[in-house]
Order: sequence, then structure tokens, then C-alpha cells
Amino acid sequence: MQLIDSSKQFDFRNEERAMASLQLTASSSQWIAGKGPFAWRNSPRTAVPRRVAVRPIRAGSYTDELVQTAKSIASPGRGILAVDESNATCGKRLASIGMENTEENRQAYRQLLLTTPGLGAYVSGAILFEETLYQSSTDGKKFVDCLLHEKIMPGIKVDKGLVPLPGSNNESWCQGLDGLASRCAEYYKQGARFAKWGTVVSIPSGPSALAVKEAAWGLARYAAIAQDNGLVPIVEPEILLDGDHSIERTLQVAEKVWAEVFFYLAKNNVVFEGILLKPSMVTPGAEHKEKASPETIAKYTLKMLNRRVPPAVPGIMFLSGGQSEVEATLNLNAMNQGPNPWHVSFSYARALQNTVLKTWQGRPENIGAAQKALLIRANANSLAQLGRYSEEGETEEAKKGMFQKGYTY
Ligand code: 13P
Repeated sequence: MQLIDSSKQFDFRNEERAMASLQLTASSSQWIAGKGPFAWRNSPRTAVPRRVAVRPIRAGSYTDELVQTAKSIASPGRGILAVDESNATCGKRLASIGMENTEENRQAYRQLLLTTPGLGAYVSGAILFEETLYQSSTDGKKFVDCLLHEKIMPGIKVDKGLVPLPGSNNESWCQGLDGLASRCAEYYKQGARFAKWGTVVSIPSGPSALAVKEAAWGLARYAAIAQDNGLVPIVEPEILLDGDHSIERTLQVAEKVWAEVFFYLAKNNVVFEGILLKPSMVTPGAEHKEKASPETIAKYTLKMLNRRVPPAVPGIMFLSGGQSEVEATLNLNAMNQGPNPWHVSFSYARALQNTVLKTWQGRPENIGAAQKALLIRANANSLAQLGRYSEEGETEEAKKGMFQKGYTY
């Protein structure tokens, strides 16, 4: 990992490569818009193509580093531990084990997770909330350094949360673009190397064209700003599990959402090799009458990704979205039974933390056992990333679903 910014030095070959990739991106955006780099004067049969000047886009100074960062997070057998709950959401987690939502308790819980010895064998990145990025362990070691010690890349949630979207069907939009560039620059100085912006799309609410466009545009603006400041953006339009719709309907909505997200990513000249995606798996709604098997979920999810995600993207890091720990692992395992054009892995919060929290109960004497529980889940998902996981020996607790209607981070 580069903590000193040597990438700022000018390297002609790298600059050229980055430019080539950006030009490809620029022309693909025009293709999506139905224009392409050649415009036809008359009918395609008789016309001679007229060359349209394509202005080269200047590559950002971090391009090579972004590609390297994304590649290292998307490394075989590893995924992301999401620990980026806002203070309010972390409070809900603590309340579930009878603890008060104080800075001290949040720090103690994050310390347990981030100082787990051996975690780096399965986890390549950890997404933190701003408070945690600036915190240290009780023996004075910065959390960022605890992670680096395990070769885990520190990441940061940069969105400012969801608010109602006026003019929509009770849907929401994600805030946080104001001042984002300077915040990203500060987070980079503090050691963060990747970022996350999570917005949501609700199927029972429509979703309205307005909500999908707003979600996609916000993600694309954020991604461009994060890349400009050295952070690999995780692009997360979460399609909520809420609803009684079929898996076909989820597929239809997911395809619509991802088409729009890539349209605007291209329009904003985002370097696809320097992003990571955090999609929801394509499943039936949580209240649908039938449950789908891991094989069906893998089939639909991979169909959607193959139709929508260019192979230039290095990694697909799923969210767990309220599935049980075991379900999330089984589904990931099913998706890795054959080769994929991208690294297909995890970026779970609930599906990595649930048993840990219950084992800990806020008691110092349980820290060792809770860290062991985290290693068990991380190892299971690491095996699932490699397509080698078996459910044998999983506890009943790990099989309990965590879906809550209307749940937001
Ligand atoms: P879950 O795995 O709990 O759905 O977390 C998703 C998330 O975006 C946290 O960063």
C-alpha cells in the first residue's frame, strides 16, 4: 500500500494508458446514448461516416494507484468487512445486547472487530464510519494502523445518509455531495484508500424513474469525486429486500438500475478499472410466498451482472441485506462455482457481525470468543469466494434471518 503519494509524479506511459482507458469509457458512454464516435449523416446504407471530434479526457493523477487498490481488495479468497454503521445504526446494534450508545462502547465494539488477529487472511478491506477512522485502540494504536498491520485496506463511508425524495413515491435520495472532495482528501490523508456511498431503491415503491435516476446520478458524481481524490469508490445502489415480488421482478429492476448507474458512471468519466461494486443479490422479495435456492439466486444474480457489468470492473462485493449469515455465504458460494469475469466476493455487515455481537454481549471476558466467531464467518465467506464452502457445522444462530422491514443504515 502506498501511503506516500508517489503517484502524483508524472509518468508518461501510465498517463497514456489511463487516457486510453478513459477514451474507451467516453466512447462507451456515447454508445449507450446511441451516438458512438462516428455519426451517420444519412441512412447507414449509403452514408459515409463523418468523424466527430472526441476530446480526450484528462486522466486523474491517482489512476494507477486506484487500479492497484481495487485489485488488491479484489484478491482471491478475500472480501470486505463492513463496519460503517452510522452512530445511530451502531446504537441499534449495541441496544440489541443491552448496551448504551456511547462513543466509548462504539469504540470498544469496533476495537474487537478491527484488532482480530489473523483477520487479514480473509478480509482485504474494512469500511469504517468517520468516527472510527480517527479513533485508536485502548493501547493507543490507530485503528488504521491495526488494519494495515493485517494488510487490510482502510475504507470510509462518505455519504450523509438517506432523506425523502420530494416528488417521488415515498422514496429516498442519498445526501453528501456538498464538500465531498475536501472530505475525501482529508480521509486519504488519514489513511483511507477506498470509499463507500450507499443509496437504496425500493421495489414496492415503484421504483419511480425519478428515484432510479437520482440514485444513479448521485453514485456517479460521488465515484468521480472519490477517484479524483485517490479513493476507490464502492458503488452501492442497494435494491431493498422489502416486498412480496418475484425474483423475475427483482431481476428487471436490478437491470434497470445498473444500466442507469453505468450510463452515468461513463458520462462522468469514471475509470471502471478503479471502482468496486456492492450490489444486492437478485432474490425474491422478503415477503414473497416462495424462497429461492442458492443456485437460483446465483443464476439470476450472475445473469444480471453479465448483462450489465463490463469485465473491466475488478470486483463485485455483495451486501448481505438482511439474509442470515449462512444464506449470504451459501449464495456467494453458489456464484463461485464457475469462472466469472470479475472477482465475486462479500462486503457484509450484518452477515459477518451478528454472531460476533451475540457472543460478545459487551463483556471483556468474551472478546476472544467473539473474535473467534468473526474468524469463523470470515473464513466461511473466504471459502465461498473460492467456491469451496460447505454448510456443515454451522450453528442455528448463523441460520437466523435478519431481515427487518424498512431497515436503513
Ligand atoms: P449488510 O451486509 O448488513 O446489508 O450491509 C450493507 C452495507 O452496505 C454496510 O456497508
